[in-house]
Formats: sequence, structure tokens, C-alpha cells
Amino acid sequence: MDEGQGADVRYIVQLGDIHAGSTLSVMPESFLTTDGNPVGQNKLQKAIWSHWLKMRAWLTERIGGEPYAVILMGDMIEGKHHRTQQIWTESPSEQIEAACQVLEPVCEPARAVFGIRGTECHVGQDRESVVYYRMGVGLSSDGRYHGEHHLRLRVGSHLFSAAHHIGATSRSYLEASGLGIAMGAEMLEAMMGDESVADVYLRAHRHRYGYFANSSAALCVSPAWQALTNHGHKVVTGARVEVGCVLWDVSDRNKLPTHEAFIARPVKRQTVCIGG
Ligand SMILES: [Fe+2]
Ligand SMILES: [Fe+2]
Repeated sequence: MDEGQGADVRYIVQLGDIHAGSTLSVMPESFLTTDGNPVGQNKLQKAIWSHWLKMRAWLTERIGGEPYAVILMGDMIEGKHHRTQQIWTESPSEQIEAACQVLEPVCEPARAVFGIRGTECHVGQDRESVVYYRMGVGLSSDGRYHGEHHLRLRVGSHLFSAAHHIGATSRSYLEASGLGIAMGAEMLEAMMGDESVADVYLRAHRHRYGYFANSSAALCVSPAWQALTNHGHKVVTGARVEVGCVLWDVSDRNKLPTHEAFIARPVKRQTVCIGG
């Protein structure tokens, strides 16, 4: 993949963790399985879908016809992890098809699409690559079709460094620490590896928008498009659900790129009342 490939874009969309196939994530309004069975959206998915449509309208309005690239941040399909029953299909091809139907309106008009490899227990060794291939992601740096574990993308004078994973935490009051740690660690690794040091770091995986910047670099985590699964309730018990994406403006080649986040909350925890 060429450094400089995205140099002619004004915007970059950072979008990930759609987990197609999950009963708790974004899915098309109506879907036909391989054998022709219709599958619709449950109540939560209807709420998530309405925010997905709002996000698409928000992107269209903000981008305003300017050239843009999309970085798909991984976890495009749910797979069948931890023996979950919270999927509407086990079929990889149906999960892939659903992901493509959801993503296509965002990716099709883009000048370039890049794919980051998600978590293996969701996306397998190579299943996600089919989504990326169909969304127009080019050959990976090793000449094969699959997402990159680590994408270093030169955009004008800026170097973006995108990877899926970052530590998650159930201690939300400490979540900013993880952002600074991830950014500082990678800057140090790049220096020790005698590589150019990126100034924008993109991450996903923790399903929670986050942004940390200092005077020379910034790190941003994209939100997800999935509510808490049973497994999620175990590992991040108190987490509230947010969905969304991040839009980077890279038009000013001399300043750290700026970003806006689209964030919505499709579900709120219910309170049970007894007595007066
Ligand atoms: Fe995820
Ligand atoms: Fe992940």
C-alpha cells in the first residue's frame, strides 16, 4: 500500500465494530438468508438503525461532496465467539453479506477504503477480508486481500497509524490513561524501530469513543455499533452503550488534523420502581 495514497482526500471516516450477525448490533432493515428466509430487526436494532441513518446523513452533510477515504477499524462481523447464542445467523457468508449491505452506502462513494483486522474470535483468520474486498479495499502490504493489523497511512504531511486493538477497561474514570499509554507506547516503539513517528493514532475495540492529544500527536478511539452482549455485561458491567463514528478533516496539511464525532445512545438502562 502506497504511502501518500490518501493525499487527495479532504476527509477520513473512522468507522468500526459493526459486528454484523449480532442480535445487538446494526443490521439491514430487511435481510434474506441464503435460503430466502426474511430476517428483520428487533427493537434495539431498529433504534440502532435509526442512528445509523442519522450518521449517514450527518456524514453526507459534513463531507459535502468533498473527496474522502474510509478506514474500517475491524470487527465487521460478530462470528460465533464464546459460544454465544446472541447472533441471528452462524453463517459467515450471511454475516459478511449483512456487513456489506450496511457499509456499502458509506464506502461506495469514497475515494479510498482501508481495512483493519479486528479481533480474531469475531472475524476469524480471514473472513473479514471478504467484507474488505467487497468494499473496495486494495491489496494489503503483503500483497494479499485481508485487513492490515497495522495501517500506517501518509496523508499529506500527516502520518496516520491505525490498529484495532487497545486495552479496554471497566474503570471508566481511568479510560483516558489507556489512550495516553497506547499513544506513547507506539511513539516510542516507532522511534526505537527507526520509523517515522505518526501524529494521528486511530484505535477501536473498546466500543467507547475517546480522544487524547498533546502538542504533537492525537489518539482517537471510534465508538461501536453494538450494544452490550452477555459477555460484555460480564467484562464491562457498568458500561453504557454508544454508537457512532469519527470524521477527520485533513485539509490543513500544517496542523494536527481536527475531528468531529457522531455519537448517539440507542438504549438507556431501565429503572424498576416499587412502592410509592
Ligand atoms: Fe468490537
Ligand atoms: Fe475487537
